[in-house]
Amino acid sequence: MLHVVEHPLIAEELTKLRDPGCPSPEFRQRVRRISSLMVPSVTANLETEVVECATPLEITSGVRVSRGIILVPILRAGLGFLDGFLDLIPQASVAHIGVARNEVTLEAEPYYLKHPPTIGEHEIIVLDPMLATGGSAIHAVRTLHAAGARHLRFACLVASPQGVAALESAFPEIHIHTACLDRCLNDRGYILPGLGDAGDRLFGTC
Ligand code: PRP
Ligand code: URA
Repeated sequence: MLHVVEHPLIAEELTKLRDPGCPSPEFRQRVRRISSLMVPSVTANLETEVVECATPLEITSGVRVSRGIILVPILRAGLGFLDGFLDLIPQASVAHIGVARNEVTLEAEPYYLKHPPTIGEHEIIVLDPMLATGGSAIHAVRTLHAAGARHLRFACLVASPQGVAALESAFPEIHIHTACLDRCLNDRGYILPGLGDAGDRLFGTC
């Protein structure tokens, strides 16, 4: 289930982000702003329950989100997408999963995993700015399922049609949220028009 989060401010930020002249500090700020702007859409259908709520004047009813939230950035570029989510969901825990895409084979190569023990009781939001072939996202979701995750959604900044199809085919139940669905992949597995290498641009390693 694909959700393209359409918003004029997101579209403008993304336009500036695509510019190869956008330096790392600005790139990081823009990614952070886009991720914050995506939070309401990504979390819109979280389950809630009614709770008693005391005001200074009387008792009324309020709402709480039923399950705790765990944000899971896919290292390393996912870290750039994390802060905007944490700005609006500061109570979330953060699990980390390290997956590097082999630039020759395009296969996902795992290298790290750390999550809270109660992962199955939480809402999991997997974060990665780029969904290209889908290999990294599929590996991350499979790993988190194996660790016990049950309520899981995926958020990215730019997705390719191939990546969306691959992730949907592997996990038909997962909601995929993206700020933009781009045109295609090139022969090196890069998204077109895309952003280039998001990790390198975020961390100034290009
Ligand atoms: C990038 C990106 C995704 C992955 C997408 O990370 O952040 O994790 O590639 O490609 P895929 O859908 O074809 O798997 P990369 O492995 O380059 O590492 P980085 O985050 O350290 O830059
Ligand atoms: N990873 C990136 O950072 N960009 C792409 O276009 C594809 C994979």
